[in-house]
Amino acid sequence: YYLGIDIGTSGTKTLLVDVAGRPVASATFGYPLLTPAPQWAEQNPSDWWDAVVLGVRDILAKSGVAASEIAGVGLSGQMHGSVFLDKDDNVLRPAILWCDQRTQAECDWITEQAGRENLPRLIGNPVLTGFTAPKIVWLRNHEPEVYARVAKVLLPKDYIRLKLTGVHATEVSDASGTALFDVANRRWSLEMLEAAGIPASWMPESAESIEVTGHINAEAAGATGLAIGTPVVGGGGDQAAGAVGSGIVETGIVSSTVGTSGVVFAFSDTPAADPGLRVHSFCHAVPGKWHTMGVVLSAGGSLRWLRDTFYGPETLAASAAGQDVYARIADEAAGVEAGSEGLIFLPYLTGERTPHPDPDARGAFVGLTLRHTRAHFARAVLEGVAFALNDTFLIFQDMGVAISEVRTSGGGAKSPVWRQIHTDVTGYAHHTLAVDEGPALGAALLAAVGTGAYATVADACTAAIKTVDKCAPDPAAHERYVRFNGIYRSLYPALKGEF
Ligand code: XUL
Repeated sequence: YYLGIDIGTSGTKTLLVDVAGRPVASATFGYPLLTPAPQWAEQNPSDWWDAVVLGVRDILAKSGVAASEIAGVGLSGQMHGSVFLDKDDNVLRPAILWCDQRTQAECDWITEQAGRENLPRLIGNPVLTGFTAPKIVWLRNHEPEVYARVAKVLLPKDYIRLKLTGVHATEVSDASGTALFDVANRRWSLEMLEAAGIPASWMPESAESIEVTGHINAEAAGATGLAIGTPVVGGGGDQAAGAVGSGIVETGIVSSTVGTSGVVFAFSDTPAADPGLRVHSFCHAVPGKWHTMGVVLSAGGSLRWLRDTFYGPETLAASAAGQDVYARIADEAAGVEAGSEGLIFLPYLTGERTPHPDPDARGAFVGLTLRHTRAHFARAVLEGVAFALNDTFLIFQDMGVAISEVRTSGGGAKSPVWRQIHTDVTGYAHHTLAVDEGPALGAALLAAVGTGAYATVADACTAAIKTVDKCAPDPAAHERYVRFNGIYRSLYPALKGEF
């Protein structure tokens, strides 16, 4: 058996699978997202650890699998977050997360220090507010007394690795999102660290995702019930690990995933940084391979906002009756024609990344008339998120990225209505997965490869990942959406100055 642990933004999911990747047991424990000031997003690393302990204990109890039967553990997690540790590995302040938008001034400063023209060579990516480097510089500028005590900076899942094994380590896919990593050469960029004034000694050792980085130590075994000595592999940032869990390990297969964020992700044999730096170019969790992706910050997050704001009473009633209010929202949206009778939604509720790297971008509804009802708002939100993800498909087409099959996963893929909208907006058939367990499954498969059950990540995916269903585009709806998509794309440039 293999254990995958995914440190998400809303909760930590622990998944136990057998060697063929079949789920045996899973558990999710949540924690709060702290927003102490506008644009801030933080979490307490101790909350993640508590959720890991509860999850592992729960799984061991309910599966009946003995800890000694678990051959390996893989970690995955929300990317980019910064856990600041002192020399004794104490957490110095809450972690600053991927969706935090406070660091535009620091991004501008680092970009100037490194030279924007050098970024494609140094890190293959722009320096964006969500990434780790500007968070470290922010700490230097705003909390110098904390900064003075920093000895290590870890990514969220790597803090859990430290708790499990006592080792400071990361792996290439998550390290790629720090803006301090030489993605093309799969190692820390000393030049970039120097430009940002960040000590190289603060960065943990970086491994490939399948490499064993440490073993469960006595203290972690006591807390979780895992067996002392169980190997823990590198694992991956949630997007790379999720891609392994969806079988995105060869050219042409692209994933479109809607969680809190929305991501369009393509495998790549080469580092392939976009010269325009429009999409992220990161190391994949497959050794020696890379990927490109575009990230929409509020995808499922926009739908959650719609639910909380327009469907409050129904949400309470549905949860009391054990029903899913999102299904109700999708049903309502299905009664409105494609294009929401001209109501267009921009999903930039927490700023945006792709294709508008702008923390000040804001959401909008445009085109409202007396005819529009709550159902139109619901459909407009579903469509707006699909338009936002389609921006990355359009960039991929422009870059010549091969797209032979699109696989959809995450909460958004559960709704047939939303799946059809994504299919019709992009014009690509969307396939669903037989087992949609996301990054936790990918992390468990990386553990299976790293401890010798499979020779390669592709072999593990061949054994474990199947698609079941295909949603085909409706040509008339696609044609309609091409027109509305054009209007959508004209709105951000028109409104940018007002945001
Ligand atoms: C990826 C990103 C998000 C988080 C979500 O670049 O910022 O998808 O990883 O957990």
